[in-house]
Amino acid sequence: MGVLVQIPVSLNWEAAELIEDTIFIKPRRMPLTGTFQVPGDKSISHRALILSALAHGTSKVEGLLESRDVLSTIEVLRRLGVEIYGSGGDYWIEGKGPEALREPDEILMAHNSGTTARLMLGVLAGRDFFSVITGDDSLRRRPMARVVKPLQDMGATILGRQGGDRLPLAVKGGKLRGRKHTLKVASAQVKSAILLAGLSAKGETVVVEPRQSRDHTERMMAARGASIEKEDTTIRISPGEMKAMDVKVPGDFSSAAFLITAALIIPESRIRIQGVNLNPTRTAFLKMVRMMGGKVKIISEWNEGGEPVGEIEVQYTSNLVGIRVDPADIPSAIDELPLLALLGSMAYGETLLDEAEELRVKESDRIAVTVSQMASLGARIEELPQGFAVMGPIKLHGGRVISHGDHRMAMLLALAGLVSQEGVTLEGAQAVDVSWPGFFHDLGIVEEE
Ligand code: S3P
Repeated sequence: MGVLVQIPVSLNWEAAELIEDTIFIKPRRMPLTGTFQVPGDKSISHRALILSALAHGTSKVEGLLESRDVLSTIEVLRRLGVEIYGSGGDYWIEGKGPEALREPDEILMAHNSGTTARLMLGVLAGRDFFSVITGDDSLRRRPMARVVKPLQDMGATILGRQGGDRLPLAVKGGKLRGRKHTLKVASAQVKSAILLAGLSAKGETVVVEPRQSRDHTERMMAARGASIEKEDTTIRISPGEMKAMDVKVPGDFSSAAFLITAALIIPESRIRIQGVNLNPTRTAFLKMVRMMGGKVKIISEWNEGGEPVGEIEVQYTSNLVGIRVDPADIPSAIDELPLLALLGSMAYGETLLDEAEELRVKESDRIAVTVSQMASLGARIEELPQGFAVMGPIKLHGGRVISHGDHRMAMLLALAGLVSQEGVTLEGAQAVDVSWPGFFHDLGIVEEE
């Protein structure tokens, strides 16, 4: 049981380009062992860039995730005149306040990144200039009215297809008025867009969430001196300036969840994951795997720049049991839920996920893709209108699957390949670049060239 993979702290963006788009994942006969570091948190990386750009002064961001989604945010901010420079995870952003943003002379391209599109809509709504923002095929299919409607209610003019529910969207902002928004979906992207608009609105802006979603925006705004207050699921923000601040981006818990799953299901595995973000609004997946009987321990925990961070130890568990997911935990495990289809296939009894309809409007319809692709590998999984039911334990035979251009689907199906009998041919492997460039190298799935 030697150390198989030691992940470098700063992941190599170029490494991503070495991967073929269709790759074969061999069944893994050896345990996964050693100490890992996962790439920087995607949500925190976007926010570090955007809030630094809106602040006054130079902010340094250390450990920025250099993935396709985060590069989209950098590209959009640069088009608005923000100076951003750096490499190897270390970046400097020259913040000159929201007033210094200038009208872009080109369409803003968010590519695959919902966080870029939705958070930047909140920023653009506060600016008195014209802009158009769009995305790739996947993002142009995703609902935007949830952001557009509240921003229109604050006074922004936003036009787009399907009554403003789809990108491309044209924005003419400025002269916003603060007001109270009671959200129907627990969405950190929607909440954050409104809070960003609230920074430039007249008077107080209030957001009430139906359930607590990830709170990185609130934490980072407060740390930068914004006048923001939080009580349960109600957040209040008043206009004001933010100061520059250095940010150390912790490892992404959503990426760690793939390693946790791999270690839980590959026999004899035992790993540690260092420097992972453990914000409680993100970690309901830990609660779920523990309920399944998974051996997952937090070895140490500390605070870094307003976010809890720690080290996790995971051990292979041969006797996982199926669970019924508590709908109250869904927002805090939203990006990890598809992993339950794989864990559930390895566990005794039924695993049931319901009331997770938000999964249908992610980078792909993650209910349909998870069910169809896992079923084609041999999983006993059934699609439900708002989730899935999976029976285990079962030995997946393997086969050919498609990621549908969705990074989390690609990583899920790659893990399924590792525990399959015959291996998995994965089409659309490059999608992993969206959140974890180098995923296949780091997991020892493809050899370093
Ligand atoms: C994110 C919020 C979540 C999540 C996405 C990142 C964020 O989306 O699924 O991957 O950074 O705010 P929703 O706000 O649509 O739930």
